[in-house]
Amino acid sequence: MVEQAQGNTTGDSDYEAVGGGPAIASVVDVFYRDVLADPQLAGYFADSDLAKLKRHQVQLVSQVMGGPVTYDGLALSEAHKGRGITGDDFGKVVVHLVAALEAHDVPADIIGRVVTALGATQDDIVGVH
Ligand code: HEM
Repeated sequence: MVEQAQGNTTGDSDYEAVGGGPAIASVVDVFYRDVLADPQLAGYFADSDLAKLKRHQVQLVSQVMGGPVTYDGLALSEAHKGRGITGDDFGKVVVHLVAALEAHDVPADIIGRVVTALGATQDDIVGVH
């Protein structure tokens, strides 16, 4: 499972600090807009239910940021297995996520914690058969 990334010193969760559910939903919207506009990545999502995907991604990011939300999608290894996702694809997805967080003025320390937590999922996503 994906671990919650914590470590801020303000007492608020990162989830609260960035503006909670609406802010994270907006980040995830921008993130998938950019992923789907990326010719290297778009094809992977050709048959995906985007509404479901976004809902699960919002849950996962919210959980990682210490929000009162539980991810209830598939295990990441299940969701990504057999898709032939490369390390380069993974890196690009992370770049799009960071850009979406930056576009929402999320502070760098919080972005760092999110990237550390989600970056740790790489072995469940890349080269899973
Ligand atoms: C930080 C890295 C990533 C995270 C945290 C992540 C997270 C997720 C989550 C939460 C889901 C939803 C699972 C569900 O609905 O049960 C999902 C689905 C999916 N992911 Fe990722 N993902 C990552 C990287 C990637 C990469 C690099 C690719 C390919 C380039 C990819 C392709 C997909 C596809 C195609 C689906 C849709 C599966 C479906 O249609 O049901 N993901 N991912």
